[in-house]
Amino acid sequence: MRILVCGGSGYIGSHTCVVLAERGHDLVLADNFSNSSPVVLERLQAITGAPVAFRQVDLRDRAATFDLLAGGGFDAVLHFAALKAVGESCERPLDYFENNIGGTLHLLQAMQAAGVKRLVFSSSATVYGDPDRVPVREDAPLRVTNPYGRTKLVMEQLIGDLVATDPGFQAGVLRYFNPVGAHSSGLIGEDPSGPPNNLMPYICQVAVGRRPRLNVFGGDWPTVDGTGVRDYIHVVDLARAHADALDALVRDGRGFTVNLGTGQGVSVLQLVQAFERASGRPVPYDLVPRRAGDVAEVYADPALAQQLLGWRAQLDVDAMCRDAWRWQSMNPEGYGAG
Ligand code: NAD
Ligand code: UFG
Repeated sequence: MRILVCGGSGYIGSHTCVVLAERGHDLVLADNFSNSSPVVLERLQAITGAPVAFRQVDLRDRAATFDLLAGGGFDAVLHFAALKAVGESCERPLDYFENNIGGTLHLLQAMQAAGVKRLVFSSSATVYGDPDRVPVREDAPLRVTNPYGRTKLVMEQLIGDLVATDPGFQAGVLRYFNPVGAHSSGLIGEDPSGPPNNLMPYICQVAVGRRPRLNVFGGDWPTVDGTGVRDYIHVVDLARAHADALDALVRDGRGFTVNLGTGQGVSVLQLVQAFERASGRPVPYDLVPRRAGDVAEVYADPALAQQLLGWRAQLDVDAMCRDAWRWQSMNPEGYGAG
């Protein structure tokens, strides 16, 4: 297939491009580099052995987005392009609505104008908020707790409405749990700008000496060891799911919404210990009060993805830590030094 990958130079998009290229698809990446580096394109070329077709486009620019789609001959679009920082979304909600919802609206309109009718969309476990029970199934109540989450929920609904009205439109909505890790080459990985909000990149930066200690947000949660429990999923497993989702759309018709997780809950301290084992580096930490908006325990029921996509996660926490550390130790300053 000829595939447009919006947000293709970002963390999950870049790993997905490697898998799609390995499966013989023809790719065009589009990004505005608001949260990624052009160095990613060189790294992708090094991994895949072929030049990367790239268009610098901001999806907020309606005309540029129409131009991107027009005459592109795309069989499918993968849509990763979004702002994703929960805290920032609480400070600047309108920017999140404009970028995420506005950008998606332009993309859907441009797809319709160009007659492109196959979409794979990056959603998030954030749409479940604080779930009543774990593991979380796709039919759990949706109740978001912050503007970022609201954008994901609205985008899911926009896509659902389009599917309902256009019989030819196919969409795969993928609700990611907690993506971590990196490609085994160590050439691409997660490179947050500023202090990381998420646990794994913070652990990596402590281990590599960029930050002195990890703050563990809360030791009094009702969990196995008092720290928060999440469903960490290797980004390469996640990438593979996108290729499988495209195949499922081609095979099965109209579409689906599925969780992408391992189904295993892992606590903050369990992840720290696994990382110390994998890296051989100490990760000193302090137990500090809970972070506002956090929840005790969230992990997926991944059965539907297995049933519909034939996909299940294969890489364990040790592999996630090993590969995250390889990336961080080979690129202590991320792509910045690249
Ligand atoms: P990322 O920031 O690394 O990648 C997103 C890419 O989109 C970046 O390269 C950014 O420059 C680009 N982008 C943003 N707005 C754009 C716009 N208006 N026009 C063009 N390009 C734009 O993030 P990621 O971790 O790779 O996440 C990819 C997707 O998965 C996002 O939609 C995110 O919300 C979703 N998601 C991520 C996580 C996570 O923990 N990483 C969890 C659940 C869902
Ligand atoms: N944590 C720490 N210290 C840190 C960072 C995180 O103790 O420095 C803890 C958190 O309290 C939580 C766990 O580590 O218990 C995981 O936190 P993350 O921030 O890595 O992940 P979250 O599950 O809180 O949120 C992430 C994304 C959201 C997304 C959600 C579900 O940031 O955007 O996963 O996909 F919605």
